Amino acid sequence: MKLKLKIWRQENSKSKGKMVLYDIDNVSPDMSFLEMMDVLNEELMIKGIDPVAFDHDCREGICGSCSMFINGEAHGPDRYVTTCQLHMRKFKDGDTIYIEPFRAKTFPVIKDLVVDRTAFDRIQHSGGFISVNTSGNTQDANSIPIEKANADKAFDAATCIGCGACVATCKNSSAMLFVSAKVSQFALLPQGEVEATDRVINMVKQMDEEGFGNCTNTGACQVECPKGISLDNIARMNRELVKAQLKK
Ligand code: SF4
Ligand code: FES
Repeated sequence: MKLKLKIWRQENSKSKGKMVLYDIDNVSPDMSFLEMMDVLNEELMIKGIDPVAFDHDCREGICGSCSMFINGEAHGPDRYVTTCQLHMRKFKDGDTIYIEPFRAKTFPVIKDLVVDRTAFDRIQHSGGFISVNTSGNTQDANSIPIEKANADKAFDAATCIGCGACVATCKNSSAMLFVSAKVSQFALLPQGEVEATDRVINMVKQMDEEGFGNCTNTGACQVECPKGISLDNIARMNRELVKAQLKK
């Protein structure tokens, strides 16, 4: 396939970026989107042009680093896949593909397609964990009975990879889907009950302090989420928050 790539180039967080057009030939439909970007970067380097900076790590849909906005959609036109799992067979010969970073005030551009998502780390640090005694007296997790329905919902919430597509796709740049997945993962399990009150209060507080917008129930986040995280988690987080505020 021959493609035209219109890619956001930005030297650093202070500079003004712009879309730059690149032509690429011999793209195989079996390539992943990132492999296609690798080929482009090799060609750019041969020509002495600075390669396009983009985030990636696992390239198998589990680390959450890859983060491109492709043709106006977070992670591109396919559903339930990350950018690294998107394949070029989703595009046609002669297509023009628009490639931008995840855009949100809370995700400032570092360079080209790489954005700073450490706001998510700070939210996670504020409560997205359980404190467990690992001194040798740890209770065998299998000895705590957990209702199957709750175990399944907790597992589904835990599949959030923290990619930020929900923020990038939301008109308000809301992080509610991400935070609610992290709260729900623990709220549904007995191991999470001990710190439940502080967890939801602190995580929501940190989310607000970072400057993420509010949820207005549009549901775009759920549609673009590569892991299919459900809006039900947002409802659960709101219930957990009210419960916690009444306890305080
Ligand atoms: S909720 Fe979905 S879109 Fe948002 S960070 Fe988690 S995996 Fe990514
Ligand atoms: S590179 Fe890890 S999810 Fe895409």
